[in-house]
Amino acid sequence: MNKAVRKAIIAGNWKMNQTQAQTKALIEEMKPLVKDADCGVVLCVPYTDLAAAIEATKGSNIKIGAENCHWANSGAFTGEISAQMLTEMGVEYVIIGHSERRQYFGETDVTVNQRVRAALDAGLTVILCVGETLEQREQGITSELVAMQTKIALGGVSAQEMEKVIIAYEPVWAIGTGKTATAEQANEVNHTIRETIGALYGESVAEKTVVQYGGSMNAGNAEELLAQPDVDGGLIGGASLKAKDFSVIVAAASK
Ligand code: PGA
Repeated sequence: MNKAVRKAIIAGNWKMNQTQAQTKALIEEMKPLVKDADCGVVLCVPYTDLAAAIEATKGSNIKIGAENCHWANSGAFTGEISAQMLTEMGVEYVIIGHSERRQYFGETDVTVNQRVRAALDAGLTVILCVGETLEQREQGITSELVAMQTKIALGGVSAQEMEKVIIAYEPVWAIGTGKTATAEQANEVNHTIRETIGALYGESVAEKTVVQYGGSMNAGNAEELLAQPDVDGGLIGGASLKAKDFSVIVAAASK
């Protein structure tokens, strides 16, 4: 497998943080720090910040994503946002299946699959999150579980559509805890994900698919994680809210 065929992508996940005014200020601070990146740079922000983020990043190398989308185009789904609503306003990426969605909002592998399908149909690039809890890791089922989450989420997705799918391995026990997976642990599971893609779509799709790591990636540990052969970037929570730290991670992915 040849890492050189893939361009790393560093994506921020702001979660439920930042008002519109704060969004504008943070992006203005980030823009000069990441402008020379030799990797993809994406910021996934709350729905209410999307317009401000798109406006602030115009003409820059930063792309904007949402943090979720619904599976229907429209209808009686109070509080939800459709993929079409996102693309029409200029959003290019969307996170689907984040563990916080699964944990707090009843997201299942099946609804994750439905949302992936809707996002691809609308032309969005999907950042699909998979990962095990600490209990599941201790039970020794990480590989099987992550492979299963990946397979179910990609049901009905064609080999060609995989060009618009990024997979983020995010061990639940490492998210927001300061506890990062070791570089070896991250690489091992990312490799399992790539093998799963290979089994579904063949070697050449597997080789081209970007598989990120996420879970307490920060300015201090990014370089070691990103140096791993199967780690093609990161999905960054906490550290994406600090311009300097985020830019250090972008620089590490640009090496
Ligand atoms: P963290 O979050 O970097 O704060 O651990 C990562 C994520 O949830 O995507």
